[in-house]
Amino acid sequence: MIVVDTITELRRRLASARRDDRRIGFVPTMGYLHEGHLALIDEARARADVAVLSIFVNPLQFGPGEDLDRYPRDLERDSALAHGRGVDLLFTPSAEELYPGGPPQTRVTAPELTNRLCGAFRPGHFDGVLTVVAKLFNIVQPDVAVFGQKDLQQAVLIRRMVADLDFAIDIVVAPIVREPDGIAMSSRNSYLDATQRASARALSRALGAAQDAFATGERAPPALVAAARAVLTTFDGVSEQYIELVEPRTLATPERARPGDAIAIAAFVGATRLIDNRLLTEPGTAQAVDSTGGPGPK
Ligand code: PAJ
Repeated sequence: MIVVDTITELRRRLASARRDDRRIGFVPTMGYLHEGHLALIDEARARADVAVLSIFVNPLQFGPGEDLDRYPRDLERDSALAHGRGVDLLFTPSAEELYPGGPPQTRVTAPELTNRLCGAFRPGHFDGVLTVVAKLFNIVQPDVAVFGQKDLQQAVLIRRMVADLDFAIDIVVAPIVREPDGIAMSSRNSYLDATQRASARALSRALGAAQDAFATGERAPPALVAAARAVLTTFDGVSEQYIELVEPRTLATPERARPGDAIAIAAFVGATRLIDNRLLTEPGTAQAVDSTGGPGPK
């Protein structure tokens, strides 16, 4: 594995791969890698010849008062994990490398898709995500890029950006990797103490309750949300930010829930904000793999 921290060096290395007609697979991350990230690397490697991983804690996507300064970082451990999982090129730019003149003037923004779910509570967050992902796409120019279903709204927005701005990149959305007790893996789980860690099970349990209600025939979105909320509130120290039932391509709430729709939760456990989501399935069918579907109507 080669580690590079400048755009010039990365482009030079990738140019030679491209000359050899090798397909480039890309996984952007903010590091502090866990099995969820590593599963994305596996996907990229399965679909490409060269696997590129980026680790960059993007200041543009953190709001004032959010956890930019204390976001967990461990580049040494991340490098070892990436190497062990077969990453060919690890890109670790500094903020000065990506934003040499300070925050960029030009931004990628998607007004309608960002004003709901997490976007409603984190103004500017998704513009920061889309802007850095657009830059990384232009730098790496991958054939395929892999994202996680864990960040459902992010995945939907990136699909939409790729369609709207004609990036010639296949977007793959991989399923959520969970801990044995159901908690979705997240770098931010490292903020939780033992009691909070136990409370964090509230999110996946609440999603399970919505799925149970769906499986027994409930189709009204408010009733499915209420089923999730009833479970979430039984956990101490957990406060809901939102619970919504959405159609994954548009993020709109349908009149009646259908299989493949997503139930999505954001909640605070202490000061830590956690998110999770689950796709509703008919009883006896396997969980769908990529709920985000296509880019939605233009
Ligand atoms: P980060 O939170 O590090 O996540 C990087 C990728 O890993 C995202 O596509 C995310 O959805 C995926 N991921 C996280 N936890 C997962 C889990 N438990 N199972 C499966 N996939 C999981 O998302 C970002 O970074 C940033 O916003 C980024 C896209 C890198 C732009 O800065």
